[in-house]
Amino acid sequence: MCGIVGYIGYNDSKEILLKGLEKLEYRGYDSAGIAVRNEEGIHVFKEKGRIADLRNIVDKKIVAPVGIGHTRWATHGVPSKVNSHPHQSASGRFTLVHNGVIENYDLLKREYLADVPFASETDTEVIVQLVEKFVNEGMEVLEAFRKTLKLLHGSYAIALLDEQDAETIYVAKNKSPLLVGLGKGFNVVASDAMAMLQVTNQFVELMDKEIVIVKTDKITIQTLEGQVINREPYTAELDASDIEKGTYPHYMLKEIDEQPAVMRKIIQMYQNEQGQLAIDSEIINAVKNSDRIYIIAAGTSYHAGLVGKQLIEKMAKIPVEVHISSEFGYNMPLLSEKPLFIFISQSGETADSRAVLVQVKEMGYPSLTITNVPGSTLSREADYTLLLHAGPEIAVASTKAYTAQIAVLAILAEVTAKSRGMEVGFDLTQELGLVANAMDVLCDSKELFEVMAREFFAVTRNAFFIGRGIDFYVGLEGALKLKEISYIQAEGFAGGELKHGTIALIEEGTPVIALATQESVNLSIRGNVKEVVARGANPCIISMKGLNMDEDSFVIPEVHELLTPLISVVPLQLLAYYAALHRGCDVDKPRNLAKSVTVE
Ligand code: F6R
Repeated sequence: MCGIVGYIGYNDSKEILLKGLEKLEYRGYDSAGIAVRNEEGIHVFKEKGRIADLRNIVDKKIVAPVGIGHTRWATHGVPSKVNSHPHQSASGRFTLVHNGVIENYDLLKREYLADVPFASETDTEVIVQLVEKFVNEGMEVLEAFRKTLKLLHGSYAIALLDEQDAETIYVAKNKSPLLVGLGKGFNVVASDAMAMLQVTNQFVELMDKEIVIVKTDKITIQTLEGQVINREPYTAELDASDIEKGTYPHYMLKEIDEQPAVMRKIIQMYQNEQGQLAIDSEIINAVKNSDRIYIIAAGTSYHAGLVGKQLIEKMAKIPVEVHISSEFGYNMPLLSEKPLFIFISQSGETADSRAVLVQVKEMGYPSLTITNVPGSTLSREADYTLLLHAGPEIAVASTKAYTAQIAVLAILAEVTAKSRGMEVGFDLTQELGLVANAMDVLCDSKELFEVMAREFFAVTRNAFFIGRGIDFYVGLEGALKLKEISYIQAEGFAGGELKHGTIALIEEGTPVIALATQESVNLSIRGNVKEVVARGANPCIISMKGLNMDEDSFVIPEVHELLTPLISVVPLQLLAYYAALHRGCDVDKPRNLAKSVTVE
């Protein structure tokens, strides 16, 4: 996690750095800082809290054409001013920002820096102290930087300033994302393109273990061994307005509302000239040739994977296992003979998933990434990529990426099934169109969910989401949404499993949100609701039209039963949103979290 930025050019860097950090705040918001350099030297401003807090302490009078900045998600050391980046070397000559984790920092500290005074508890500080140590021993700065990087184990995106050199930002990357942006009379550095769209849309991708020497009118990319690399820039296809809130109070609400449009965009992007759903034949062959698919993902993307398993198994008849990426590496199941690994990741940067990708690549297995971010690490490193086309998702709580993931998985299942000569029994294009219309209806019913959120979650300390089959998986997602933004202890359970333990938690007034969208289990999930009501629960039944009964709190429009997760999740997203709002929580930036989880 964490985000970094850098600017070198003819203009003042402060505002560009601060605006860039605001766009990266989704990556962490425990503290923030910038270091700017002018003829007087390096000036560091850092503060615990948000970029807004940092803005308050930056000296507006300083004009400095070079600078670096950082927004932090704490890993080593509590969120505090002293642990905030930038960090400086003992003499103050070098100043550095870092995103990532240095696993061997303690060892390096003991081995090389025993007599150097450290100011912070961070792993990062070891990097800047090492550079200074090697320079003090007589090395050139670049050589010292290179030697330091070779000693580091772990992940890093680094930007380094030298007080004695007004013309350079030293940059390096390993496993953490980092781009260099090109402009006329300036160059910039950023963890993602959104941060620097304010000044350029021309970016150069960096690969792991590369160093970049960034000057005002030139960048030089080198390997750690010093071999120079020429790489063409690409144009970021993002529109700056995609990353603004517009008239919405929160990104999360905007992104919930964007879901119908995303569905329509996905249909359009995955249609061939004949109007049929289509996917690159190489990808379909890879799916068809596998005897078992392993879906690897985390959090909400894992929940989308659970729904994806149902879609692929029911439509394309290929067995699927779904695994949490952070567990898979050391808890690998016995693999089939011809596995295909599918990585689902909104950001394409999740370190836990990437660690599995590295492992399976070493084992020689094929891989497909389904992601929202073209050019992201998981997309670059997998054999194949399918894009979500959902547009930037900024709110920490994922919404439109979840439904986009399910839609793309449905298309993958359908196209695979057809290419295996199977009939899926329904027209997916048409059904996804109906899903988009149904989403419109739900998004237009916001006031209702606002009232329901007040009724069910205003004072409760916990809540349960229950469902059977595919509804159970949506319940898991509903519970995650509620807990991560409203801080209500919420859990999703399979309806039939309640009586095996969890029902003991039901008390007078405990909200139990039940999903009833599947005909085959409609009566049994309602039986489970009766069991909890008998023990005092406050039930909220969300059912699909056609299966509804008098006692239901909300009825969602009818869609194909395999696609119900695409719409039954929308009320749960809205309930979580309003619950968080009513409880005065920071909806878009919930405590302790960050959007792009780039540490394992
Ligand atoms: C929850 C949420 C997270 C992410 C998870 C994986 O709302 O957003 O659970 O789904 O951190 O992130 P990606 O999909 O970027 O790999």
